[in-house]
This record gives sequence, C-alpha cells and structure tokens, in this order.
Amino acid sequence: MVAIEASNLSKVYDTGKEALKNLDFSLHQGEVFGFLGPNGAGKTTTIKLLTGLLTPSTGKSQILGVDPSAEPAKLHGFCGIMTEHAQMYNLLSGYENLLFYGEVFGLEKEMAKARALQLLERLELTDAMYQKLGTYSTGMRQRLSLARALLHSPQMLFLDEPTSGLDPESIWRVNDLIKEMAKDEGITVFLCTHQLRYAQEVCSTYGLIAEGELLAKGNLRELRALTMDALTLELKAENIPLTENSHLEKVAENRYEMKISEVEEIPAIVQRLARNGTSIYEVRALEQSLEDIYFALIKRKGEGHDHL
Ligand SMILES: Nc1ncnc2c1ncn2[C@@H]1O[C@H](COP(=O)(O)OP(=O)(O)OP(=O)(O)O)[C@@H](O)[C@H]1O
Ligand SMILES: [Mg+2]
Repeated sequence: MVAIEASNLSKVYDTGKEALKNLDFSLHQGEVFGFLGPNGAGKTTTIKLLTGLLTPSTGKSQILGVDPSAEPAKLHGFCGIMTEHAQMYNLLSGYENLLFYGEVFGLEKEMAKARALQLLERLELTDAMYQKLGTYSTGMRQRLSLARALLHSPQMLFLDEPTSGLDPESIWRVNDLIKEMAKDEGITVFLCTHQLRYAQEVCSTYGLIAEGELLAKGNLRELRALTMDALTLELKAENIPLTENSHLEKVAENRYEMKISEVEEIPAIVQRLARNGTSIYEVRALEQSLEDIYFALIKRKGEGHDHL
C-alpha cells in the first residue's frame, strides 16, 4: 500500500527562494526511506510540506490518504514528527514532558505513562527521567525528542536528522529501534540525514536531493546501476604491462584498481592479465557504498547533468 504520494510539490519562500522544485515520488508502507542531500538542498522543507507545517506553492501530497495541508490535525494523530528544533519544556523533567505530550496527543493517562516509561528505557533515559530537560545534554534531548515522536505509536515517522549529536552507541540504539519498528509494526519512516554510513545501515530505499530537485530514488542496487561503475576491482599483482591496461590505475606498489559495472567482467580481465605474464596474488570486487554513490551523483549534478 502507498504511504506517501507527492506530486509536483514545489515551495517558493516569501524571499523568492525556490527551495523545492516539482517533487514527484511515492513511498510504500514499511519502507525506511533515507532522504539525503547537502545543506540547503530542501530536505527540511520537504518534511515540513509533508507534515502540513508549510503549505506548498504548487502540487500536493497525501500521507496515508490524508492531505497534510487540508487536515494537519488528523495527520498528526497518526504521524510522529521529529524536527531539528523540537519544542519541549526546559522546566519540566523528561518524563513530565512526555506525559504532557501524551495528553496533547489524546492518550489515556495510564497508557501514556506506560508508553513513556517503555520509551525512556529503550532510549536509555531512565536514569535522567526526573531531571529537568534544561539540564539534558544535546544527545539526551535528541533522544527525548524521538521518544516524544513515538509516544502515540504512529504509523508514519518523519525524522529530521535524528542521530545528529548522538554518540556512536546511541546512534546504534536509535537505528535499531527504527529498524525494529519498521519490521515488526510496519511503520513507514521518512528520514533525513547527512550520516551516510548510518543511513546505509538503516534505510531500505533512498532519495537524493540537491538544489531542490530529486536527483535519484531507489534501493542501493538501483542507485549503483545509475552510477554505471558500480564496482571497484582491486588487484594485487606484479608485472602488469600497464600500456595495454590503461584502465587499470596504480594505487600503491603492486596494487591496482579499476571501475567495472558487474562481476561478470572479472574472469576475462584476470585471464587476459595472466596470459600477458602478470602474477596475480589477490582479486577483490568492492561494491560502491552509499557514500560513493552520493558523491558520484552530486558531482554529476555539479557538472550540469540534470538527467542521470
Ligand atoms: N523560512 C525560510 N525562508 C526563506 N528561505 C528558506 C526558509 N527555510 C529554508 N529556506 C531556504 O530553502 C533552502 C532549503 O532549505 P532546507 O532547510 O529545506 O534545507 P535542508 O536540505 O534541510 O538543509 P540542511 O541539511 O542544512 O538541514 C535553503 O536555501 C534555505 O536557505
Ligand atoms: Mg534540514
């Protein structure tokens, strides 16, 4: 079932800034979608449009059948939203903040308490639950903000940089929680992040945005195919006649690399080298990481190739 549908979504701010240009995409229920792009690309603007915090200049979207700009309150009833600067109360404790928002979300009191305690435990905040929010560290505040977004057991989660400011162990914990919810509860997650390695661990599909335009969307395999040279072949070898193998790049003594698009190319390359008297000690094919793909596609956009 389709969870998010955006068509021709654009946003021009009052300043005249065209932050988002004709965004068209859809997400299926249960997808963990990583929305990636440089600073100022339009990620937060997109989240704000999809959650009804901003109205689009053109186009429309539907979240589980609800138009966010027409029925924001209805949307917030089944969406959890974690933005960069979450509004919470410094003079209340972490626990009191959650109970307060539980009431705002219309949760029954005992239910809110149980869910708050469960999330505080899960996000390692139990020891600090009676501490005033004003005394929380950045990472603790981030985790409380995530707990707040999850309080009413949403069907959809919008997360804007959920792991910024978190230490590696907390990132791992948050990722684990997101993956588990998507798998066990079928929650759809729309996640903006700059942390590409973590995105690769947690997301099932990705969208790449730059200067307000969606450059690519798909799973890792589909994105690798877009960049063409999906694999790096690494060779440890001696006596390579480089003039006949100009596509091989020497990266260190007896170490060579070349870009290939599929593993099926490897046997012929190895046979040809061996025939020419090369001694091969090691052959490895490394798949492009999300980070490699990201830089390749952003670079291509910078070179003026709008269509990938
Ligand atoms: N309220 C606003 N008024 C005018 N311009 C804005 C406003 N909010 C954002 N912008 C501009 O819109 C563009 C996209 O901003 P946005 O916050 O969506 O980027 P982002 O991808 O979330 O970036 P980051 O990675 O830094 O969070 C930027 O050029 C930004 O300056
Ligand atoms: Mg942002």
